[in-house]
Amino acid sequence: MSQVKKAIIPAAGLGTRFLPATKTVPKEMLNLVDAPTILYVVEEAVNAGIEDIVLIAGRGKHAIEDFFDTSFELEDKLAQTGQLHLLDRLLKIRNVANIISIRQKQALGLGHAVYCGKPVVGNEPFAVLLGDEITIGQDGSPSVTAQLVKNFSENQISSVSIMQVSDEDVSKYGIAEVEKISDHRHKVLSVVEKPKPEQVKSRMALAGRYVFDSQLFEELKSGKPGLNGEIQLTDSMKSLLNKKGLEALTFTSQRYDAGDKLGYLKATVELALKNPALETEFKKYLKDLTQPWSRK
Ligand code: G1P
Repeated sequence: MSQVKKAIIPAAGLGTRFLPATKTVPKEMLNLVDAPTILYVVEEAVNAGIEDIVLIAGRGKHAIEDFFDTSFELEDKLAQTGQLHLLDRLLKIRNVANIISIRQKQALGLGHAVYCGKPVVGNEPFAVLLGDEITIGQDGSPSVTAQLVKNFSENQISSVSIMQVSDEDVSKYGIAEVEKISDHRHKVLSVVEKPKPEQVKSRMALAGRYVFDSQLFEELKSGKPGLNGEIQLTDSMKSLLNKKGLEALTFTSQRYDAGDKLGYLKATVELALKNPALETEFKKYLKDLTQPWSRK
């Protein structure tokens, strides 16, 4: 029985939805309360049992690599000045996992980005976590990635996370037609990348967390450009499902597209409300802001 110990995090996108902020700062490095988006994603993977993380980065993304690297001057300064809690946090970040960075030299699509991770992943099953999406679960409940990893170890089948979307949002996502197996678990019958709402009956969208059998690489290798002339991950999932089957899991965590302004703001608010040092003051501030008549 193989276990999922590796993850690919595609983080090569240009972040055009966040310009001008992302002109020099990768969107995955935008701050959510006190840590960049990518750290939340990496921690989700690590907490699901992942040991090796393959970052697929593009040009101008070295800030992500630096973030997981040693910063001698800073660490030394914190040690000298006795700021040990901060030093401890930095040491934990650089030891969080084996981070292996691979350059995607051409922007040929999400499927191509995932394929760039093959030299590290080889013949093992692997998770994929999109680097600009974060999920926030209830304390103690398994994360979306943990659910997918568990499903793989129990059933040895690839699975993807799905969520209900509205008619207007169908064309923003990969859409899966599914049949319920039990509770959160579904069999995937078909998948299509960003259809028009009238082209599909389902309103179940792919949510940026996946666990795949290594057969997916074979499908990506022979994959033809799809929507927008890009190698689409969703198209290779279609061939995978025909050969080896594919399941889909619904989840209870909140999922945010932190590469989008509104999603980013919502994630910031939710994380701030979960931060013990900010929670009380921030809640009061939000209440005052939304109910101005209650201000003294
Ligand atoms: C990508 C995938 C899509 C998936 C979405 C989740 O689209 O291609 O299938 O539903 O992520 O966020 P993108 O957001 O990169 O356009």
